[in-house]
Amino acid sequence: MTPATVDRLMSNESKTASIQSRVDRAIEDLLASLPNPGHLSADERRGIIARYTAVLEGNFIYWMTGAYISVGSDEARAKIMDNLREEVRDCHPGMMRRFALAARAIPTDADAQAVYRSLMDVRLFIGRLSAVPTVVTMAFFEGFIQRFMPYLAELAQRQGSAEMEYTDVHGICDVTRTQELFSALEAEMALTEPLPATEMFEGVELLRRLIQNIVVNN
Ligand SMILES: [Fe+2]
Repeated sequence: MTPATVDRLMSNESKTASIQSRVDRAIEDLLASLPNPGHLSADERRGIIARYTAVLEGNFIYWMTGAYISVGSDEARAKIMDNLREEVRDCHPGMMRRFALAARAIPTDADAQAVYRSLMDVRLFIGRLSAVPTVVTMAFFEGFIQRFMPYLAELAQRQGSAEMEYTDVHGICDVTRTQELFSALEAEMALTEPLPATEMFEGVELLRRLIQNIVVNN
């Protein structure tokens, strides 16, 4: 490794650390904005689970596939493929559906309609296949999902459900996955020119709006 290469690797490492702390803050802010489950009606609880399911069941693997297609480094490809393999092998969409079914919160047409616009915005963003912003967005998503699981589980319990495989699995495995996405990000940043912050965090902002839409339905 030449001294210039070492410098570049080190500066990507510190850039990744600052991106990670911004992503962590965005996650903290979202978590802090969640309504107290004890103050929600049964219908409000059902709505949150249903809108979350409407988004996650059919889009998570699709978006992670978008990340796979967009990246250029072998390291990022390998990490994202591990993630996709687990999603498909363990049938996470099926796990999601069982979770919603047991909580009597299968998404209706109205639930799908409620998230339509903000979901579409994230879909179009992923479709641009821009490696670094897409990986940042998926790291934010994984990080949020992992931290959101106890809240989602509590909503389901209050709906009378004991089916917690989805929340149990995602509360644990996503810790490693988030970390892996940040090291994939480092590998991708070594291949691309620096981006302005607005571009870097555009997907995070769109996804943040979608999650708010899921939680508060507006
Ligand atoms: Fe999953």
